[in-house]
Order: sequence, then C-alpha cells, then structure tokens
Amino acid sequence: MCGIIGYTTRKNNSVEVALNGLKNLEYRGYDSSGIAFFDGQNVDIVKSKGKISNLDEKLATMNTDSCCAIAHTRWATHGEPNETNAHPHHVGDVTLVHNGIIENYAELKEELISKGYTFQSETDTEVATAYLDYCYKQTGDKLKALVEATKGLRGSYAFDVIYNDEPATIYATRKDSPLVIGYAHDGNFAASDISAILNYTNKYSLINEGEFVKITRDIVTFYDSDLNEIEKKSQTASWDAAQYQKNGYDHFMLKEIYEQPKAIAGIFDRYYTNCTYSDIDFKSFDKIHIVACGSAMHAALVGKYLLQTYGKIPVMVEVASEYRYNEELITPSTLLIVVSQSGETADTIAALRLAKEKGAYVVGIVNAVGSTISREVDKCIYTYAGPEIAVATTKGYTTQVAVFSTLALMAMKQNGVLTDEKAQEIKEDLLSIESKLQNVIDNRDLYLDIAKDIYTHNDVFFIGRGIDSAVCMEGSLKLKEISYTHSESYSAGELKHGTISLIEEGTPVISIATDEKLYEKTVSNIKETKARGSFSIFVTTDMHKDQCSEFSDKLVVLPKTTDFTEPILTVAALQLIAYETAKLRGCDIDKPRNLAKSVTVE
Ligand code: G6P
Repeated sequence: MCGIIGYTTRKNNSVEVALNGLKNLEYRGYDSSGIAFFDGQNVDIVKSKGKISNLDEKLATMNTDSCCAIAHTRWATHGEPNETNAHPHHVGDVTLVHNGIIENYAELKEELISKGYTFQSETDTEVATAYLDYCYKQTGDKLKALVEATKGLRGSYAFDVIYNDEPATIYATRKDSPLVIGYAHDGNFAASDISAILNYTNKYSLINEGEFVKITRDIVTFYDSDLNEIEKKSQTASWDAAQYQKNGYDHFMLKEIYEQPKAIAGIFDRYYTNCTYSDIDFKSFDKIHIVACGSAMHAALVGKYLLQTYGKIPVMVEVASEYRYNEELITPSTLLIVVSQSGETADTIAALRLAKEKGAYVVGIVNAVGSTISREVDKCIYTYAGPEIAVATTKGYTTQVAVFSTLALMAMKQNGVLTDEKAQEIKEDLLSIESKLQNVIDNRDLYLDIAKDIYTHNDVFFIGRGIDSAVCMEGSLKLKEISYTHSESYSAGELKHGTISLIEEGTPVISIATDEKLYEKTVSNIKETKARGSFSIFVTTDMHKDQCSEFSDKLVVLPKTTDFTEPILTVAALQLIAYETAKLRGCDIDKPRNLAKSVTVE
C-alpha cells in the first residue's frame, strides 16, 4: 500500500536517494508514483502512472539537483491510478505525500470549495493538502497548521509535507499509518518503513500517534500535540540492506520460500527448546479469539486446530475487518491473539485496540520488529522471519504456523495433556523439520510438472479435511494471488453440497490428505470429483504413496510428521505449485496486480 519517503540533505542528491527509497518500497504495492523536489528556487513535481521506471525516465530528462525531496508510491483508493490523482499534491503553499485514507474528505471538500479552493483530482489527499494550506493561512505557523489540520481530519495518515517558503524542511506526522524517521550521515529521512532508508542508514526513531516532527538536514525535532519539544531515542535496525536483495534467486518469493527451513528451525529453537511462554497462563482465559487478515488468518486456522485439538481450549478465528465491529464477543477473560507479518494491518490494529478497551489480554504474533502491533499488544511473540519483500507471503505464514505449534504445545503442558512419550515424539519432529522441509522444497521438478498441468485452466479447486482444510485455504490463496487463476478451497466433505457442480472434464482438483484419521474420508471425496472428470493432484504422506494410483493423476509425497509440522511441509509444496504456475503464465510474481503487501487502510 502507499509508500512515502522524504529526504533532506547537505548534498544535492535528494531525488536520487528518494527514488532509491521508493524502489525499496515497491513491495508494498502501488500503481503510480511521484516526487516533489526543491530545485533551489521552486518546488517541482513529477508524477507518472505505472512503474517507478516511468518516473525515472521522466526525471532523466531534467536537472534534478536538489537538497530536499518527498516521494510517493500510490495504491489507488479514491480515483483511478493516473497522474492527476498521483501524489505529491500541491495546493497554495503546501506540497505533501500521504499514506492512508481521509474519511471525512467529502465534507471537508465542500467546506473548502465554499472558501474558494478548487480541486483537480478525485483524491482525499488533495483535500487534506488544501485543508493544511487553509490552516497555514489561518495560523501563519507551519507546525501549528499541521496540528490544527490533523484535528480536523478523520481517518488514517502518514504525511511528509514541505511548505513553499521553507522548501528544504520536511514536516511529518502520522495516525494509524506507519512512519519512521531516519538519521543518515548527510541528512535525515521520514519514510513509511525502514526498508526505504536501509541503503543509507540503520539508525531510526519511531513517531507515535499525535507527535509532530520537523526535519532539517542537520536536526530532527519531535513535538507533542501541544508543540512541546520531546526527547526521542534512536534505535538501530537489525535488518540490513543485503536482506532486501534477491541474492541470485529469480524472485523474492522463491528466495523467501528457500529461507523457510532455517526460519522454522529458528522458531522451534527459540520458543520450544529454550522458552516456554511461561507468562501466558492459558488456564486464566475462558476462550481464545484469533484475529488476522489474509494469509495470517489462514495461519490462525491452523493455530485454532492445534490449540483446540491438542491444547483442549475453545478457539474462534475471525477476520479482523469483521471482528473489529463485534465488541459483544470480547470480555476480560478473553485471550486475543492477533497475527500479522507486517504489524501494520489497519483492521488488525483496530481489532486489538477494541479488545484492549474491553479488557482482554492481547498477544501478537508479528514479524516486523517495532511495528505498531508489536508495540501495542500486551505480549509480542516475534516470528523473526526477516524482511519479506514478495507481496505473497511464504515464510511470513509458515513462521506464524510454527509459533502456533509451540503455543499449542505450551497449552498441552499447562493442561496436563502432554505425556512424556508424546513430548518426545514431537521434540524429534521439531528438531528434524529443517532437513525435511528442505527436501520438500528441493522437489522443484515435480511442482513444475504439476504447474504444466494446471496453468492453462481457469479454475482450480483445493480440498482437504481437518488441519489439511486450513492449509488448502492458504494454497488456494497463493495460486490466486500470484497466477491470477481462479481457485477455491473447500472442506472436502462440503464440496458435494453445491460446488461440485463446477467440476467438469479436466478440472484440476488439488486434494490434501495428511491426517490419518480422515484419510479414507478425503479419498472418498476425491473419488467423487474423479467420477466427474477432475484431474486429480493428490498431496499425501509417504505412508500412502503406494495406494493412490487409482485416484491420483499427479502425486506429491511428503514425509510423515506430526500435526505440529506437517502443515508447514504441505504448504511449501503448494507455494511452489503456485509459483511455477504463475511463472508459466508470465505473471509479475513478486508484485501481483492490485495487491498490497501492507494494507494500512480499512
Ligand atoms: C495483505 C497481503 C497478504 C497478507 C495480509 C495480512 O492482504 O497481501 O499477503 O496476508 O495483508 O498482512 P499482515 O501483514 O497483517 O500479515
């Protein structure tokens, strides 16, 4: 979703640096981009639809020597992706870039029109720019104007602002959208996230909501909402620029798939071998709610299965965009677990804030260190997956699942249902995951072969039961996201209640059966689809590899492990089937159309 970067420097390379920053924010998802820079006399604005390379081309024909620039990648919300709607927006004395949504823009627009303002774009951001200009004209003070303007705005925002009469200084503030301040050798930054600035510095500070910042090339000053100066400590990012490179892989997604064995082993070492979450007392809660969006919600479904089946605790999973309006469900004896790779997803943040208001204890499973969710939860369990650049999550998801495995084991211990024998079996399983997962990933030829069977089809179905059903949801989402193939995921027993009408000669059905208890039931469901002409791709464990030729046209065999790791092995195969299919279909794998990595609006 929109990315912003502002840079003010003692040199004259702010345009080049801001553009490099924008390129590192591409992963957030965007459909147009733009930059405003101070050329020594005026503030110039250049925008372009589509890729940042289009903006680059335009800038290549200009003199871009500049000591201060603010730049933006836009993921369209209000108005189509075109140059007029792209940021920066300029009204009167103010030029700004914005990440977020101004919810009361329509009423503000009417008010501003009545005061003589006119508008070129369809965006909420142009209204915010005009409103800030109006506040500046009323107050005559740049910081006061920003404080006043934010009082009148409803919604979410991170703003980088420059004023015509002080064009080498950036003013910034945020609410519900992320913004970090970076300190480099030659100047200072205000950017959506640390990835934008890591090529220049790993020193940064976080801005809290209701804080305002004045950034010059030499000094950064933080203020509270009464404009009292406040002290801010700087932090050092543990991620470095090298982690943002493809390192020889064709795509970030592939690189991140290959990073999973180490990342998962790391989770089990950190949270199972060395730590027991002794500060989470499952017995003190009467229920667990797990809330998340997208793939994180799918990880939550695996978590629900493990916590309920093994930990013996009732669990409800809900998408954050619904949960945030469901306050009757939350009581002080609720344990809310929020799951988020980015830690910045707007709906998930709203859900956690609601639950905290209602007195619930909130645990976060989060990848991005220092993100909003990690800071606001009562307890944060980091997944330490490292930066994830591909929009479609892979290691982000599997590390979340691994954390749920360790939480379920903790719940089993606390509830006295983890026998020594079971504990030993699971321990061996967790300790051997790295090599098993590596073997599954290395089976690339098979996934390519399967992709060749499905890439020309418009519809694919995924079916499974129990824990496999949760994994099917993620496999299906991966295929949709990156290959633009319509796919649906069904509990295997449910397909016959309607959706089976869509199965015709050759329709690919990917079925998963790793759960011994439900194996035969799932096989019956596969046979139902075969009888209607499906092309059957069967994913199962090595216990069944010799019994499935009758109903499988293609077979993926996984090592048999326990439910605490099997979903991770299964999903890795599905990730690679989706990857190879997307490649055959010629898709932009790391940056699929219409998607954003970090969804910071409702
Ligand atoms: C977006 C991404 C998904 C992700 C979801 C939740 O929709 O495209 O891949 O699963 O947000 O993101 P989070 O950062 O909260 O895990």
